[in-house]
Amino acid sequence: MIQAILFDLDGVLVDTDVLHYQAWKELADRLGIPFTREQGNRCRGISRMDSLEIVLEGSDKPYTQEEKEVFAREKNARYQQLLAALTPGHAAPGAQLLLPELRRRGYRLALASGSKNAGLILERTGLGRWLDAVADGNLITRSKPDPEVFLTAAGLLGMSPKQCAAVDDALAGVQAGRAAGMVTVAFGDAALHRAGDHNIQSLEEMLPLFPPLEGCL
Ligand code: BG6
Ligand code: MG
Repeated sequence: MIQAILFDLDGVLVDTDVLHYQAWKELADRLGIPFTREQGNRCRGISRMDSLEIVLEGSDKPYTQEEKEVFAREKNARYQQLLAALTPGHAAPGAQLLLPELRRRGYRLALASGSKNAGLILERTGLGRWLDAVADGNLITRSKPDPEVFLTAAGLLGMSPKQCAAVDDALAGVQAGRAAGMVTVAFGDAALHRAGDHNIQSLEEMLPLFPPLEGCL
C-alpha cells in the first residue's frame, strides 16, 4: 500500500523549468549557439552538466572540461539570480493546498530532486515546511534516470520502494521512479508521453489517486 509520496521539484512543485530554460538560453545566445524549446525539454530531470551537453549540441567548437565548468557556473549564477525573485506565490498552482492535504490524509512526503538549488527553492516558496524529508542533488552521485534520488528519499522516510509513489514531469524522472520499483505519477510533459502508471496534467488530479489512509480523517 502506498504510504509515501516522493515529489520532483522543478516543473512539478515549482515552475522553475522555465527559469532553467531562460538561464541556459542566455548562455547559448552569448555563445552564439541555437537553443530550442525542444532541447530545453530534454534538459528536464537531468543533471546540470548533462544539460550543458544538450546546450552545446549546436556548437561545432570542442570545448574543454574547464570551459564547460565555467559555462555551468555562469548558467547557475544567472539561474540563482532568477531564483532570488521566487515567493510562495510562485509554487505551482495547487501545490500549497495539495501538500498539507496529503499529509492530513496520512501520507509521508519527501522531495526527490536532482537539483543542487532545491534548498533555496524550498525556502523561498515555503514548500519545505510540508516535507518530511529532502533528497536533492547534494545527496546523490547519479542523476535521473538512475533511481538513486528516489531510493534516497524513501530511505530518509524509512519506507520501502513498494510503499512509495514517485511524481515527476520528466521522462528521465519517471524512468527513475520505475527503476526504483515505485508507482509512478507522470505530470505535465511526461504525462503527454503516457510515461507513468498514472498520467496527470494538474496537481489536483492527485487527490483521487491518494485517498485517506486507514485511521486518517
Ligand atoms: C532538475 C531539473 O530538477 O535539476 C534539471 O529538471 C536540472 O533541468 C537539474 O538540470 C539540476 O539542477 P541544478 O539546480 O542543480 O542546476
Ligand atoms: Mg522536473
